[in-house]
Amino acid sequence: MNQSKRGDADKLLDESFAYDGIIIALIISVANNMYDLSLLGLANEFILILIIWYGIVEQFIHTSKTMNIDTRYRLLFYGIFLIGGFLNTFIYKVYGITFIPIILVPMLITLLIDYEFGASAGLILSLSTAFHYHDFFMFLHLFPQVFVSTYLLKNVRSRMQVTKTGLISGVVSLVMILLQEPVRHFYFSLTDYLVVFFNPLVSSIVVLGILPYIEVSTRIYSNIGLAEICTPNHPLLKLLLIHAPGTYYHSMRVAELAEHGAESINVNPILVRACAYYHDIGKIRNPEYFIENLKTPEDNPHDKLAPENSKATIAKHIKDGIEIAKKYRLPIQVEMAIPQHHGTRVQKYFYSKALESNPNTRVEDFRYEGPKPKTKEMGILMLADVVEASSKSLKHPTVDDVRQIIEKSVAELFEEGELDETNLTVNELKTIIESFIEVFENLSNQRIEYPIIDEKMEITN
Ligand SMILES: [Fe+2]
Ligand SMILES: [Fe+2]
Repeated sequence: MNQSKRGDADKLLDESFAYDGIIIALIISVANNMYDLSLLGLANEFILILIIWYGIVEQFIHTSKTMNIDTRYRLLFYGIFLIGGFLNTFIYKVYGITFIPIILVPMLITLLIDYEFGASAGLILSLSTAFHYHDFFMFLHLFPQVFVSTYLLKNVRSRMQVTKTGLISGVVSLVMILLQEPVRHFYFSLTDYLVVFFNPLVSSIVVLGILPYIEVSTRIYSNIGLAEICTPNHPLLKLLLIHAPGTYYHSMRVAELAEHGAESINVNPILVRACAYYHDIGKIRNPEYFIENLKTPEDNPHDKLAPENSKATIAKHIKDGIEIAKKYRLPIQVEMAIPQHHGTRVQKYFYSKALESNPNTRVEDFRYEGPKPKTKEMGILMLADVVEASSKSLKHPTVDDVRQIIEKSVAELFEEGELDETNLTVNELKTIIESFIEVFENLSNQRIEYPIIDEKMEITN
């Protein structure tokens, strides 16, 4: 059953990439030939790009799931390719080869989509450009810059990393030209060499300049943009702190756990932090219905509500959260984390309360609508959320208490099948559990009492 489900998923993935090669081949062959249009040249390049795409690139991008997150990712990929392709041809025609900003497109795609697509875009651009001008040495100059710039931006976290990448690509660009000089005899002037060196650096500055505009208009964020919304100065987080302080502190602690969990298994910690900050943002609209915001247990409004109504009121924070995420133009991935953080879990407390008065109550009526978490990052967010909420019941926890409650929460989610679509392995879950325990040990307001084994050990420690 699971096997066939996995097979279906792979098939879907295959189909989803099936037309990309044709579209990219069309864009780039037309862009390359826009000045000297020849049908034969256009057809040759179209076929060449198809061969590169289906022969090499497709194998490489198969590991990437980013493109399937949302159609807007694919449209952005085509868009950057389209503008970049025409820009490269225009600049070559007007200023010459040394001015071609070859790393612009791969850098942007690596930052906004992922490394696999960024490097593939760079490979196609540099190969097709060299092919178009019948100059293989051109490929040896362009591709190393692409390779270095995309590789260095693979796990980018800061602007500095982007400009450093531009600088290193500049060195690579210069070295590749100097290495070819004895064979090619470019007879470059000092200005030409300066252009060769500074071109990638300028490209990296342009990338930093246009990145925020792309992020705000498409809601597809790079890690740099995601890190920027993880600030207490964000208007939404200010509102959360004022209207639902309990939820605010819960979100901060979930972020701490989730980020550490993501780091422990080498997935994107910045993405999970951003998702954790905003996962319960919908609670702003009716904070008093959530236990973490109650001043005293007597204030509990659910005491006066039927369990069905309580369930609906609680579940509403998902719909409200999505609406708020759209209104404030939060990243698409953050919006998607909102329904995924509860997946299709049952609100057990209200379900068992309903069962007391009506034994025929359907469990399905007490489920969140989902979907279940789709990626490792979303799985970690769900785990961190559940662990943070369950840890509140511990008054003066020992390490063993914390371990017990974390293991119990993770096992529950695993058995309920909520993590089925995340691809998290059992070993990764074990690593995440250990990372959560470390966070509890480090959080200043969660002092853990260590069991005293003997007096001597207490003194020596
Ligand atoms: Fe929630
Ligand atoms: Fe939560």
